[in-house]
Amino acid sequence: MGSKCGMTKRAMRFGVIIWVILVVANNLGVSLALTTSKIKHFPAIFNFGDSNSDTGGLTAVYGQAPPPNGETFFGGSAGRFCDGRLVIDFLAESLGLAYLSPYLDSIGSNFSHGANFATAGSTVRPQNTTRSQSGYSPISLDVQFAEYSAFYKRSQLLRKHGGFFAGLLPEEDYFSRALYTFDIGQNDITAGYKLNLTTEQVKAYIPDVVDQFSKVVKGVYTQGGRAFWIHNTGPLGCLPYMLDYFIFTPAQIDEFGCARSLNEVSQYYNSELKQAVVQLRKDMPLASITFVDIYSIKRRLITHAESFGFEKPLVACCGIGGKYNFNNTMRCGSTEIVGGKEILIAKSCNNPSKRVNWDGIHYTEAANKWIFDQINKNSSYLDPSISLEVAYQNPNV
Ligand SMILES: *[C@@H]1O[C@H](CO)[C@@H](O)[C@H](O)[C@H]1NC(C)=O
Ligand SMILES: *[C@@H]1O[C@H](CO)[C@@H](O)[C@H](O)[C@H]1NC(C)=O
Ligand SMILES: *[C@@H]1O[C@H](CO)[C@@H](O)[C@H](O)[C@H]1NC(C)=O
Ligand SMILES: *[C@@H]1O[C@H](CO)[C@@H](O)[C@H](O)[C@H]1NC(C)=O
Ligand SMILES: *[C@@H]1O[C@H](CO)[C@@H](O)[C@H](O)[C@H]1NC(C)=O
Repeated sequence: MGSKCGMTKRAMRFGVIIWVILVVANNLGVSLALTTSKIKHFPAIFNFGDSNSDTGGLTAVYGQAPPPNGETFFGGSAGRFCDGRLVIDFLAESLGLAYLSPYLDSIGSNFSHGANFATAGSTVRPQNTTRSQSGYSPISLDVQFAEYSAFYKRSQLLRKHGGFFAGLLPEEDYFSRALYTFDIGQNDITAGYKLNLTTEQVKAYIPDVVDQFSKVVKGVYTQGGRAFWIHNTGPLGCLPYMLDYFIFTPAQIDEFGCARSLNEVSQYYNSELKQAVVQLRKDMPLASITFVDIYSIKRRLITHAESFGFEKPLVACCGIGGKYNFNNTMRCGSTEIVGGKEILIAKSCNNPSKRVNWDGIHYTEAANKWIFDQINKNSSYLDPSISLEVAYQNPNV
């Protein structure tokens, strides 16, 4: 499933613009201990998160994401709740790395350039309900960290033995030279609502969620991780599954059709997370952390969809109908037995490439590509506000 197309062109582009970047960066006072001859790209990515960045962790354990998931790019189910690639896939491509194998996938995985610990439905905090009760993945962020620690230790033991398996595992120094990416928190917010908590009650536990997030980032730093890439959470109130779950009065809906309270909670989480990142920069003096404003990017896409060539941003592409084309009992890929034959009834729309939302919860590949392009091109979404190429330069190697 690896793709390296575009790598050479990109490498050439890097060469041309790196001088410009360094000059600009120096003028901005960004400290970069780099010279053009010493530029090194990240040799690996280790990702932590939920379905926004799960490349097959949950489905390796609980069963494949059914068709039409994966149809646009992979030609079939590929462990992603999406018709194609996720933002993390575009990120891997842009670094010239193959797509990340899920840590939990024992079939055909190759971890030589990183591993993905994310699973769909993951929360930061461990939940006090089982997956069958609540739908959340038991692989919460603390568990993902435990997996990462085990992976770190065991992969190096195995590499010492050499042989075939050594080639499937990262070199030791990759752990300090890797990019560590995080995209998690959305499910911690919805978990409270599922327990019938009020918005105030949900907000009250968010500092604890962010504390537990910070602990894991520090844990990775203690094990030698230096470059971090942290996404904030998107506008929950603009997602079909939330708009379908609650009954909102017209006053609770904004001019774009999104639920105000849910977006406010997302923004509250994001402001707490941003503050935590400020503290993390103090606590981890050798680290570089890029904080990515996914919320603003996604909100801009949803609220200006038409001007970016998209349509119906609040309606899922894949579903069986209803106002938002989302039905929780009949999600994307649901089938029915008709005359002894299994028939797909929650199908894809005709043109996923024009749609923002894939299945009511997740974005389409087209939207993910657009989102990644914004990260790539518009430094106003990054904190510190430097270009992706500069953020990609690991100052500690
Ligand atoms: C594992 O991936 C690396 C990097 O993408 C590649 O060089 C290597 O050949 C792969 N190993 C196998 C056994 O496919
Ligand atoms: C689970 O229960 C423990 C003990 O009551 C509590 O401290 C913790 O906050 C709960 N976790 C969540 C996610 O509600
Ligand atoms: C939340 O409220 C709904 C509707 O009243 C109820 O069916 C459900 O059991 C409640 N959930 C919990 C966890 O209390
Ligand atoms: C969801 O789908 C089920 C099964 O087709 C149907 O009975 C139910 O009415 C649908 N719900 C809504 C809100 O459309
Ligand atoms: C970059 O993002 C900002 C904030 O959304 C926006 O105002 C600006 O127009 C964007 N620039 C480009 C070149 O898209």
